[in-house]
Amino acid sequence: MKIDVFFTPAGLSPGDLAGRAVVVVDLLRASTTIAVALSNGARAILPAASTEEALRIAQNLERDHVLLAGERKSVRIEGFALGNSPLEFTPEVVGGKTIVLATTNGTQALIAAQGAREIVVAAAVNFGVVVQRARSALETSGDLAIVCAGSERRFAIEDAFTAGRLTKMLLPQGGLKRVSVNDGALASLEIARHFGEKWLRALRASAHGRELAALGFGQDLTVCASQDTHPVLPLYADRRITAHRAPQEG
Ligand code: MLT
Repeated sequence: MKIDVFFTPAGLSPGDLAGRAVVVVDLLRASTTIAVALSNGARAILPAASTEEALRIAQNLERDHVLLAGERKSVRIEGFALGNSPLEFTPEVVGGKTIVLATTNGTQALIAAQGAREIVVAAAVNFGVVVQRARSALETSGDLAIVCAGSERRFAIEDAFTAGRLTKMLLPQGGLKRVSVNDGALASLEIARHFGEKWLRALRASAHGRELAALGFGQDLTVCASQDTHPVLPLYADRRITAHRAPQEG
């Protein structure tokens, strides 16, 4: 059994993720926003690498059903309907809509993970559902990669903390003796041990958390730290993120 944690998508080569089950984390705030939007009835999220690409993608969609969303330096992109605060993605606003989303780090990490066998978007708000899916991927293939979005190609502690919490939940009985982990996974476990179960403590300690609070997005930290409030499983395939629903029985 093998678990790798990558602290940023920078430096990943295509072979690192090809054919693997991958969990992508951008706790502040893209992963959280994606889970909240899907849980609140958005039809799909289409990640874009840039503002220009978002505009191009939106042009090819039916205008009444599409919303442009995204941020630069954490603030809504001019002319876009929504920024990247999960609080904006209410059922009234996003119900039935396809959202084209361009963020600084989160959507880049998702795009970098293309080529993986399965890509799951993880946050605190959907943590339990992600743990279940990652556990079953590990049981079937014996392998999992966790990719943190980081911040502008650098390490971000809130993503590493999330990766550590997830890794901890996935360790088999016998712990590290029974699983092969890379150094990223080992370090993320130490960070998770440091903060314990306190999502908000980790978010408040992080540079990006402090920046968001200074910009007036302090309430977003509370939303991003709320575990299992939006138990949805966002899967990214064919350039769309949709909520996976378990097949109905009978
Ligand atoms: C990102 O993708 O860089 C983040 O989600 C930034 C933000 O907090 O809006």
